[in-house]
Amino acid sequence: MRLHTRRGAKFQILNIGGRRIRQDDALIERLEERSRIMPFLDQMRLSGFVFSSVLKRPRGHIFAALVAWPLGAVAAPADSVGTKVHLCASCHGTNGLPSDQTVPIIWGQQPGYIKKQLSDYKNDDRDSQIMSSIAESLSDSDVSRIAAYFGGAAWPAQPKVSLPAAPAAIASCMVCHGANLTGAASPAGTAPHLAGQNAPYLIDTMTAYANGERANSPLMASLMHNLSTADRKAIAGYLAAMR
Ligand code: HEC
Ligand code: HEC
Repeated sequence: MRLHTRRGAKFQILNIGGRRIRQDDALIERLEERSRIMPFLDQMRLSGFVFSSVLKRPRGHIFAALVAWPLGAVAAPADSVGTKVHLCASCHGTNGLPSDQTVPIIWGQQPGYIKKQLSDYKNDDRDSQIMSSIAESLSDSDVSRIAAYFGGAAWPAQPKVSLPAAPAAIASCMVCHGANLTGAASPAGTAPHLAGQNAPYLIDTMTAYANGERANSPLMASLMHNLSTADRKAIAGYLAAMR
C-alpha cells in the first residue's frame, strides 16, 4: 500500500489483485450520506467498471467504497459512449439538474470547456477524487464525443428565483464569460457558462481556485484569490440565481 499526496489532497492507492484502487474516505462518506453511492455503484458495475465491495467501519456501518479501475489483463470499461453518458447522469442529473448541489450542471455547458476539464482531470491538471478517476478511463475520442454530447444539449430549465443585487465584480466577469454569463470564447480560452450554475458548487470551485487546490487556470486562480470569501459567496449566489 502506498500513500500518495496529490495537489494537497490525501488519498490512498491500494493494489488489490492487480487492480489499482483509490480511496478517499471524506468524499465517499459525503456521497454516501446523500444516499447516492449505492445506485451509483450499481450503475458503474452495469457499465462495465469494476468495483470492490464496500468496507465496514469497526463500529459496524459502511464507511467507504473503493472504486477500482481495471489494469492490464482485467477487462476494459464499456466502450460505448452512450453507456458512459448514462453513468455521468447518475451524478450530473438525468434531466440535466444534479440532485446534489455540489455537483456542477454540465448539460448545455460550453463544449470547449467540458473538453478541457475532462482532459485536465485525465492529465492531473485538475484534481477531483471522483472525476480524475472517471476521466482517466476515457479515451481522447470519448472526451471529444462526450463534450460534444453534453455541450450540444440545452442548459436545463430552472425555476425562477429572485435575483439579489449584482455584486460590483460581476461586470468584470462578463468580459470573458459573456454579457449573459452563459460562457464565451475569451482570450484566456473558453470561459464556461456560469448563469444558473449550482451555488454550492460555485463556492467550492471558486474557493479551490483561491487556495490553489484548483490549479488548471492561473488566471482564474489569481482573480479568485484577490476576492474575499464574502465576495465569492455573494458572486456565487448571484450567478446561481441568474436565468
Ligand atoms: C459520482 C458522481 C459523478 C459521476 C458519476 C460523474 N461526475 Fe462529473 N463531477 C462530479 C463532481 C463532484 C464534480 C466536481 C468536481 C470538482 O470539484 O472538480 C464533477 C465535475 C465534472 C466536470 C467539470 C464541470 C465544471 O463546471 O467545471 C465535468 C466536465 C464532468 N464532471 C463531466 C462528467 C462526465 C462526462 C461524466 C461521465 C463520464 C461524469 N462527470 C461523471 C461528480 C460526478
Ligand atoms: C480574462 C477572462 C476571464 C475573466 C475576466 C473571468 N473569467 Fe472566469 N474563467 C475564464 C476561463 C477561461 C475559465 C476556464 C478555466 C479553466 O480552464 O479551468 C474560467 C472559469 C471560471 C469558473 C469555473 C466554472 C466551473 O464550472 O467550474 C468560475 C466559477 C469563474 N470562471 C468565475 C468567474 C468570475 C466570478 C469572474 C469575475 C469576478 C470571472 N470568472 C472572470 C475566464 C475569465
